[in-house]
Amino acid sequence: MPSRKNIILIGFMGVGKGSVAREVIKISDYISVDTDDLIESMENRTIKKIFEQEGEVYFRNLEKKISYWLENCVENTLISTGGGFFKQNNLKDIGVVVFLNSSFDKILKRIKNHPNASKKLKKRPLLKDLKKARELYKERLPEYMAVADIVIDVTDKSALECAKELLEKVKKHA
Ligand code: S3P
Repeated sequence: MPSRKNIILIGFMGVGKGSVAREVIKISDYISVDTDDLIESMENRTIKKIFEQEGEVYFRNLEKKISYWLENCVENTLISTGGGFFKQNNLKDIGVVVFLNSSFDKILKRIKNHPNASKKLKKRPLLKDLKKARELYKERLPEYMAVADIVIDVTDKSALECAKELLEKVKKHA
């Protein structure tokens, strides 16, 4: 079978990268991995604990390690990433970069409407201070846009709708 490029999903915390990835794998033959899950299993502790016990720089170094592994060892895979993973400089060598876009307020609404809202907020160290998180969003938005091959506006769309749009756009992009 010919080798197929990975799809790498980027976007701000809580935008729905995991939900979209789960729909993509239901309606295609992609399998998926998630960089945060890989880090947690490698470290045998949560992202929250890693931030508390080691700090952000340590976490970013783990992301770097994962990015080399993805580039060199992974193909035909849908890769869902943590919100800051897009800063890795080999993103384009890993696969087609798909940015899931939404406004900060819509993202916050999405998290707050979730049945596990408080858990979702607590597990993300960078969402502890919402004023700072809004600033981070503003700072990152043009950076996400700059690195994206494909942009999907997820506002008022279901995860399944986003997944279908993603697969169509990736096909056209190939
Ligand atoms: C981060 C996003 C988180 C996780 C970590 C840092 C970020 O992933 O990687 O807390 O820098 O935006 P999610 O985007 O899945 O919440």
